[in-house]
Amino acid sequence: MVSVNGEKGGACNEEELLLFITSRRSSKLLREGEVPLQKVIRALEVATTAPSAHNAQPWRVVVIEDREVLRELLEAMAEEWRRDLRSDGLPDWKVEAIVRESMKRTLRASVVVIVCMTMREMDRYPDERRNACERVMAIQSVAAFIQNLLLALHAMGLGACWRCGPLFAPDAVRRVLNLPEDFEPQALVEIGLPGGTRDAERKALSEVAALNRWGRPL
Ligand SMILES: Cc1cc2nc3c(=O)[nH]c(=O)nc-3n(C[C@H](O)[C@H](O)[C@H](O)COP(=O)(O)O)c2cc1C
Repeated sequence: MVSVNGEKGGACNEEELLLFITSRRSSKLLREGEVPLQKVIRALEVATTAPSAHNAQPWRVVVIEDREVLRELLEAMAEEWRRDLRSDGLPDWKVEAIVRESMKRTLRASVVVIVCMTMREMDRYPDERRNACERVMAIQSVAAFIQNLLLALHAMGLGACWRCGPLFAPDAVRRVLNLPEDFEPQALVEIGLPGGTRDAERKALSEVAALNRWGRPL
């Protein structure tokens, strides 16, 4: 176990740090170029300091820098995606266009991180209701990990985008990456040189927050 010292928290420059967090954007069209693996490893170390329910740290990741592995993974995921799109009634040409475009996009990444969740160290209950809550807590914990990862990469001046594809093709991801059965693929993070960011508008705080009771303005 690596020990993490919370005492060292406290922003270096509060306003700068807040602006920095605000300035993170998804890079939807990464500029091609190499990202040193060491940087990704460092960002992942930062990600592991995320909060997690019971401190169970239910995240597991596979870092992919090998183009052959990445291609194999994307092809396997695409196969499952095609099936879904066809069952939505899309014509073959459209299915192929959507899938190819998405693969092309991910191939612009220098490194891809597959983030999984495991329930190994989460609590178990005799009833389904509480087990479902544990699953939600594990998912929330993994999401905190991913957000930490994105912020760390942003701090390094790198571009990244959180993508949901693995959720829809878990068997393909497990098979290609040789994952244990209990690893549940949650996300794919594309990492590269920043590019293709756009301003994604946010709801005003007043639309999403209340004071004391819902409906009372903050
Ligand atoms: C759970 C989750 C899944 C996402 N999946 C995708 C995805 O599959 N493809 C994509 O382009 N962006 C994906 N995104 C990124 C969002 O589109 C993006 O965060 C949102 O539009 C806000 O833009 P910003 O990140 O630039 O602020 C995902 C984000 C989250 C949190």
